[in-house]
Amino acid sequence: MPPERGGLSTLQRSQVLPPSLVAPVLLSLAGLGLVLAGPARGAELPATTAAVLAGGCVNCHGPDGRAQGAIPGIRGLDEGYLRARLLAFRDGRDAPGSVMTRLMKGHDTHQIEALAKWFAQGGTQ
Ligand code: HEC
Repeated sequence: MPPERGGLSTLQRSQVLPPSLVAPVLLSLAGLGLVLAGPARGAELPATTAAVLAGGCVNCHGPDGRAQGAIPGIRGLDEGYLRARLLAFRDGRDAPGSVMTRLMKGHDTHQIEALAKWFAQGGTQ
């Protein structure tokens, strides 16, 4: 409908930044990118990162991954087994309806490897 289109383009025009502001905004975004990129990433995540990631797991899997109830314990299981199960959850190859499937979708392979190592080693530092 023509009247709506007119209204939209008016809105878009009013949101365009004046040219004098474009360069500073782009520069600050570039700076932010550098900050977020941080130090060069190695293949292994630092233990502190693993501890932070693992913090959410113990709500369900018990302190240090020791089972408290119906949810299985994950502490001290074989690292390769843990990695394989977490990857299978993430990729939807295992228990597709499980909370674990949804949870692992937010984790990349480095994070999954760090979590597997963390709980295999006892779930503490
Ligand atoms: C909301 C509760 C909840 C959270 C949070 C949670 N889990 Fe789970 N987890 C479960 C349940 C329930 C199962 C049982 C699997 C199923 O649903 O089939 C399970 C199963 C597992 C298994 C398989 C255990 C086995 O014996 O094979 C692993 C490994 C696992 N979780 C690791 C993790 C890790 C690592 C985290 C943190 C990133 C995590 N879980 C966070 C509820 C949770």
